[in-house]
Amino acid sequence: MSIFLTGATGYLGSYVAARLLDRSEQRLALLVRAKDEDGAARRLWESLQLHMDFDRFAELLQSRIDLFPGDLTRPRFGLETPAWQRLVATTDSVVHVAASLNRMSARLCFDVNLRGSLEVVELARAAHELHGVRRFSFVSTTAVCGERQDEVVQEDSSIDWGRRDYDPYGGTKKFAEHMVARLLPEVPVTIFRPSTVMGDTRFAATSQFDMVRATAMLARMKVIPLHPDGRHDIVPADYVGYAIADLHQRENLRHHIYHLSAGKGTETYRELMERIRLFGKVSRHVFAPALRGGFGAVAGAAAASPRALGISYAGALFKSFWPYLTFHTVFDNRRVVEELGAAPMPFGSYGSATLEFAIENDFRYPTRPWPEARASAKTPEVTPSAA
Ligand SMILES: NC(=O)c1ccc[n+]([C@@H]2O[C@H](COP(=O)([O-])OP(=O)(O)OC[C@H]3O[C@@H](n4cnc5c(N)ncnc54)[C@H](OP(=O)(O)O)[C@@H]3O)[C@@H](O)[C@H]2O)c1
Repeated sequence: MSIFLTGATGYLGSYVAARLLDRSEQRLALLVRAKDEDGAARRLWESLQLHMDFDRFAELLQSRIDLFPGDLTRPRFGLETPAWQRLVATTDSVVHVAASLNRMSARLCFDVNLRGSLEVVELARAAHELHGVRRFSFVSTTAVCGERQDEVVQEDSSIDWGRRDYDPYGGTKKFAEHMVARLLPEVPVTIFRPSTVMGDTRFAATSQFDMVRATAMLARMKVIPLHPDGRHDIVPADYVGYAIADLHQRENLRHHIYHLSAGKGTETYRELMERIRLFGKVSRHVFAPALRGGFGAVAGAAAASPRALGISYAGALFKSFWPYLTFHTVFDNRRVVEELGAAPMPFGSYGSATLEFAIENDFRYPTRPWPEARASAKTPEVTPSAA
């Protein structure tokens, strides 16, 4: 039997996959957008290389991983009937990580986060009817809490249907949480809500850059248009990946919903900026909260400007993340800290290395290609003596 995992080619999904492969004996069935298994394996190598070398990857591919090339937005993921039946027959639990995080596209968020999640729920229902499903873990986001100001949000009071959403991403993830719980009444459902995930406490490399780029830009500004005592809840990817994988495997959990966040331990912007050292240098900043509204408007205008001006990307970045930076809202994390016995490290204590890695690599992950000397994905290497 297998854990069915979506989103393993993405940033957080790669952490969950790597941890499950490390800490459990179970097989993983992975839905990967690709034409065939070979293409799926190559895409998976691009994300899992953050966590392992190619030899380990190739060994796991042979021994523990089943690839299902498909798309969440197609009925039954677009799988042929035999593959769908095999997936239903072997799915023992589900970790649904995949999503569209495109805050500017209501269509993509709707398609992936709602229609796509419904397909995953349908798979779980079919598997549950056949042989029972141990747990359905849904990776959501603290953005489901909608517009807030200066709050510490608790898990059970996060969803308020009367409140405006941050953006289509927050709104669709909120309804997806609701849909998963309502349509799987007999399956233990666990909701994980990470706050902003950035960097890794063990190494500098990251393969996700949007919020990293925004933070690097802030760190290099002389005048920061934010309140020095304001806070943005940031959590390291290794903590989030461990929490999802480890709690998913537990037989019993105390709660139905977990914030995976820094909570009250979140640093203020002043504390954060004092701790960030880029290439050994500490920058002096002036905080100018009065410029906050003006900066948001300028970012909006820059986002709408012609590409040729070269400022539309930075504008779009700040426009989409501005609410996350200015709501000064953190997410109570006592439940996960109690379960794991450890709190996440604050970004200021490890994040300089993340920002330096991103700057040095021009905000792109330096992907190592598939070693072409190795045969195709699932085919064991043919050695001369075996040939
Ligand atoms: N990163 C954060 O700061 C953060 C914070 C809070 C919550 N989260 C949650 O964490 C989860 C993962 O986020 P992430 O940051 O890892 O995002 P990501 O790097 O963009 O990964 C998204 C994953 O979803 C897959 N996916 C998207 N559309 C798909 C489709 N139509 N069919 C199949 N797979 C599809 C992507 O596959 P492709 O590789 O083929 O595109 C990728 O594997 C999401 O549920 C998100 O809401 C993330």
